[in-house]
Amino acid sequence: MSEIWPANEEGIGRAASRLESGGLVGVPTETVYGLAADAANGEAVARIFETKGRPAFNPLILHVRDLEQARRFGHFGDAARQLAERFWPGPLTLVVPLDEGAPLALLATAGLGTVGLRSPAHQATQELLRGFGRPFVAPSANRSGRISPTRAEHVTSEFAGQVPVLDGGPCPGGIESTIVGFAEDGPALLRPGGIAAEEIEAVLGARLAGAGPGIQAPGMTASHYAPRGQVRLNAGAAQAGEALLGFGGTAGAALDLSPSGDLREAAANLFDYLRRLDAEDADIAVAPIPESGLGRAINDRLRRAAAPR
Ligand code: TXA
Ligand code: MG
Repeated sequence: MSEIWPANEEGIGRAASRLESGGLVGVPTETVYGLAADAANGEAVARIFETKGRPAFNPLILHVRDLEQARRFGHFGDAARQLAERFWPGPLTLVVPLDEGAPLALLATAGLGTVGLRSPAHQATQELLRGFGRPFVAPSANRSGRISPTRAEHVTSEFAGQVPVLDGGPCPGGIESTIVGFAEDGPALLRPGGIAAEEIEAVLGARLAGAGPGIQAPGMTASHYAPRGQVRLNAGAAQAGEALLGFGGTAGAALDLSPSGDLREAAANLFDYLRRLDAEDADIAVAPIPESGLGRAINDRLRRAAAPR
């Protein structure tokens, strides 16, 4: 399907129903085109990683209409609120503490206790957010390791026509949003982007930590959720004190990531099942998971959980 949908009422309606049914849509923003999925649907979010061919799960940006909607997902302190009031809608992503009860798939934030939020300044995408009625997650709509798309045709060629695109014209910005996080010791620049660090500092009346050379890639520094117990990979069976996390119908599994062996379903369940087994105070033995497609990202996450701490 190589469809480009004009950003009129009909196109926006089709995009909203595709999100509703768990599908992906390319969406225009003022920075770059995004690959959007229903943030509350774990399998739809898994499809993003599958489609991008990403070998690891990183947290995704939740796109919201405005600050009021954003507040249902994250906690805004004074500084975050000031920045949202000044720069939204616009190319600024704010990483704030996640509201644990928010209707958001765990895979959307890669199981982190924080959530990245932004309100895009693009009329078509604002109309889509209104039509869909809930926020969507959207990384840039490029295959892993390739440059970000700024036209609808870039998106269709990137994914060989697998993903329909809402055509909002060329993106005026062309570079991704600036990302600011709010750690205990104050606001920090996590990624430079469409809004200059100096402009943000002027609003805050304070320096941003991490502004300047040598910024680390966001998501790499984020402290990922790690179970308290030991994690053992490629296990055939559970040993004493272990709960077995199965895949594809593993005999004796306490929980099975996907009894039918569907990697998308397994990705959608991964963070939730790790938490559930961890809550039982067990060490976790994990059945082998194929190192292909989404299995690479699942295994990457599991290897981090199993690494000595
Ligand atoms: O302009 C943009 O931001 C575009 C458009 C589509 O909105 N989106 C975009 O998304 O650039 P993506 O996924 O390519 O980059 C998002 C970055 C990732 O590097 C991710 O690690 C970081 O945001 N990020 C998201 N949530 C985070 C969190 N809770 N903590 C730390 N980093 C986070
Ligand atoms: Mg990107």
